[in-house]
Amino acid sequence: PIKRITTPEIAIRKGGTPIVSLTAYTAPMAAMVDRHAEVILVGDSLGMVVHGLSSTIGVTLEMMIMHGQAVMRGSQRALVVIDMPFGSYEESPEQAFRNAARIMAETGAGAVKLEGGARMAETIRFLTERGIPVMGHVGLTPQATNTMGGFKTQGRDESDWPAHIADAQAVAEAGAFSIVVEGVMEALADRITEAVPVPTIGIGASKRCDGQILVLDDMLGLSGRVPRFVRKFGDLGPQSEEAIAAYARAVRDGSFPGDGQVYR
Ligand code: KIV
Ligand code: NA
Repeated sequence: PIKRITTPEIAIRKGGTPIVSLTAYTAPMAAMVDRHAEVILVGDSLGMVVHGLSSTIGVTLEMMIMHGQAVMRGSQRALVVIDMPFGSYEESPEQAFRNAARIMAETGAGAVKLEGGARMAETIRFLTERGIPVMGHVGLTPQATNTMGGFKTQGRDESDWPAHIADAQAVAEAGAFSIVVEGVMEALADRITEAVPVPTIGIGASKRCDGQILVLDDMLGLSGRVPRFVRKFGDLGPQSEEAIAAYARAVRDGSFPGDGQVYR
């Protein structure tokens, strides 16, 4: 068996070759990502991307564990990180540990990720001191959509920068092995990256982050509308629909199944 990339191996990648990260939610997609990325995130974005929810608020621990198990089965080498869903960690460090321990034990993943800056520092320390590696997530934190008033790029007002930088520093200081920096002004992402000793993983952030992440379905062109920060490296949505339409035509006109698709 191939050895998995570990959280300490990611933590020492500050300032080096950018860390390649992508989300995956299923075993076959995880197998493909595993051959090219160092980190696979089972993001709670799965609630919106594959379950049709309008935000990540309704994602459950059971959903994260089920997709986490699938991704672990499909991958061999990448570090698998699993998002803690809304409501599973904010109440107390003890609640966070109990649910993070379930994620780790039932999936075999290498780490969890949770959203929030200084306010989550105590919880991050509680987990990391007890054997659960934590990836932080600052800037635009989608689980806070209801208090932020939607998905809004952070740091447009420079007076907000010190608080964002302090959030990232508090997360690093608490023991996070890396930090996702999402949806912030490029110059703020650069300041955060300079301010913390652990790698930053950018999404809608800056090329100077220590790594990058995208939602796989978004970059494959499988999602509908996507944020400005997504580059479509593929066009699988329209290609999939063309294939479905071709199948429907072939069934209706009697050309499918053909001679090659029947047993004689
Ligand atoms: O849920 C997710 O996919 C994420 C990434 C976008 C960082 O948190
Ligand atoms: Na997420």
